[in-house]
Amino acid sequence: MFDKSKVLFEKACKIIPGGVNSPVRYFKPHPFFVESGNGSKIFTQDGNTLIDYCMGYGAVFLGHNNKDIALEVKNQIDKGNLFCIPTEKEIELAEQCTKIIPGAEMVRITTTGAEATMHAIRLARAFTKKKKIIKFDGGYHGAFDDVIDKAGSGAIEIENVEDGILLDESIKKTLTIPFNDIEILEATIEKDKSNEDSIACIIIEPILANSGLILPEKDYLNKIRKITKDNNIVLIFDEVVTGFRLSLGGASEFFGIKADITTFAKALGNGYPISLITGKKEIMSQLAPIGKVYQASTYAGNPLSVTASLKTLEILSKNKNIIYPKVSKTCDRIVNGIKDIAQDKKIEIAVNSISSMFQVFFTKKLVKNYQDAKMSNINKFNELFKALLYNGGIFIPPSQYETCFISNNHEEEDIEKTLESYDKALTKVKNL
Ligand SMILES: Cc1ncc(COP(=O)(O)O)c(C=O)c1O
Repeated sequence: MFDKSKVLFEKACKIIPGGVNSPVRYFKPHPFFVESGNGSKIFTQDGNTLIDYCMGYGAVFLGHNNKDIALEVKNQIDKGNLFCIPTEKEIELAEQCTKIIPGAEMVRITTTGAEATMHAIRLARAFTKKKKIIKFDGGYHGAFDDVIDKAGSGAIEIENVEDGILLDESIKKTLTIPFNDIEILEATIEKDKSNEDSIACIIIEPILANSGLILPEKDYLNKIRKITKDNNIVLIFDEVVTGFRLSLGGASEFFGIKADITTFAKALGNGYPISLITGKKEIMSQLAPIGKVYQASTYAGNPLSVTASLKTLEILSKNKNIIYPKVSKTCDRIVNGIKDIAQDKKIEIAVNSISSMFQVFFTKKLVKNYQDAKMSNINKFNELFKALLYNGGIFIPPSQYETCFISNNHEEEDIEKTLESYDKALTKVKNL
């Protein structure tokens, strides 16, 4: 079924470490290679059609090969794709974002999620003149020293601290604690108060989307907001996944909480490389050239990504009362369908879902943090993944520690085919 992909993977391994350009793309025995995509579907080099629930790890919210966005980008290509001199469209995008994102008084356009979170942390350190950061077990903010230990996503497999790969200085300055446990957070801050270089910021995915999908308990985020205010700690919401996807104004709008700094990427450009650092003017205006916090990039605000983002925001803004209810309904249909199938087959699962995101865990318990996610049966998850891909024509992200993403282009026929495939796949899991 994936014979051509096998040959391509062997070729790739000779010149690309591990045959992939990002480790989460690898799965056993080998990944498939994509020829093209359209709407909710991807077409492999082997001639297979798959319904996609990876959707560029959440980036492609308005479907693969979105014609309206592509047309705008093609028009921009005719005018040039990189100048490294300001363009008016950057102002338009920043203005749009300040209107849409709660708490975004100023906006710096960057290119990748990691770049945005890395500089958000630097800004918080400069603003508070403190050094330590708090992050959460299984939260993922990019592949850099400050945040990679005990991170989610593909980093779960790797113990960088034990292997001596990370700088000792970074390890000491990063405190990692469980998600959804306010008492541990309070105790951590209290214990650290006497330190001269105590906590500069808390960086958090408002919804953990890199340990499977894990939702914040009621009032958890509100309590974090209060604690950070009371202790002069900068609150960074990492909305690289949730931004423009959970709702137009992201998790900040959804939960009604304004962080001090919020980072975005993925759904903003519908797959074109773009990210944002947004936040309070007094913090953001520390950025060079007006402030001392240096942040720079050749591709920042590049015309193609900015054009794609402007069109994405136009589509989302004009149709927000249609798109967000539609993807939620699709998600509910799929999740309820999977729960019914599992119940009929007497398979114990927990399914976490919100808006256009869901994940299945093979466990009796509720999954409320990374430790719970790790206790679920990974072998069963891997069997589900394989059965969906090889027998069901469905591509979900190949790891328990990722999230399934629905786009605006997942339609009724996709839902039906998906549930048929889950039915067959769960029978295989039961017979394991
Ligand atoms: C919540 C979150 N933050 C940051 C990142 C890093 O983004 P990038 O891969 O664009 O560097 C990711 C990537 O998946 C993410 O999910």
